[in-house]
Amino acid sequence: MAKEKSVTAIPQHVAIIMDGNGRWAKKHHLPRLSGHEAGRKSVKRVVQAAIDHGVRYLTLYAFSVENWQRPREEVQGLMGLLRGVIREELSEMSKEGIRLRTIGRRQDLPEAVREELESAIEKTKGHTKLDLILALSYGSRVEITEAMQGMAREVKAGKLDPDQIREETVAEHLYTHGIPDPDLLIRTSGEMRISNFMLWQISYAEIVVTPVLWPDFGEEDFAKALADYAARDRRFGGI
Ligand code: FPP
Repeated sequence: MAKEKSVTAIPQHVAIIMDGNGRWAKKHHLPRLSGHEAGRKSVKRVVQAAIDHGVRYLTLYAFSVENWQRPREEVQGLMGLLRGVIREELSEMSKEGIRLRTIGRRQDLPEAVREELESAIEKTKGHTKLDLILALSYGSRVEITEAMQGMAREVKAGKLDPDQIREETVAEHLYTHGIPDPDLLIRTSGEMRISNFMLWQISYAEIVVTPVLWPDFGEEDFAKALADYAARDRRFGGI
């Protein structure tokens, strides 16, 4: 499907695979959770940098469907961290004009985390400076599977004609409906993997992989990724 060529050097939507918290902790002889706590500070820095640069949507891969398989202690630690961040940062988010959103299976999250999230989502829904989208219990294949189930149900109910299913129809059934596709995907800690993240939505995204571990990632690294992006010639399959 034809796509408009990007006309701005600033990506409208940046998505980040925040990787390397565990390795950072190991390097500093600290428990893994300390790596995640340090990663939380990077989140704060990067959210501010995104606002400063005029990015409109920022999606952060905070917890994948696969991450439930990690040791119970780490999962509980991450859930506690998440709940704390939302509670402690809510007033700052409101002050900065941030709208909090999530993608993923919110129903999998512990009730206390879900309640905190839902309250913050509701309180920030009128904000328009930056949409901060947390991917939580997120997996791209499960997202696409659920979209297919949704469309199949509509077909069965006579509300959707299979011949009328377009790319837009599929997109409308994804968690990201209404959110433009990421223009730029950043992955930290040097791994050359997509890890089941936004497989549909990153079709035309530019990818920047940096060796910097997520807890060390700061505004300068973010600015560098934006500069790399600005230097790319996005062709969307054209010439
Ligand atoms: C990947 O590092 C990181 C995660 C699985 C969790 C990301 C969570 C945070 C940055 C904490 C705060 C986040 C928010 C949104 C409040 P890894 O543990 O896979 O690192 P490794 O590959 O080096 O082991």
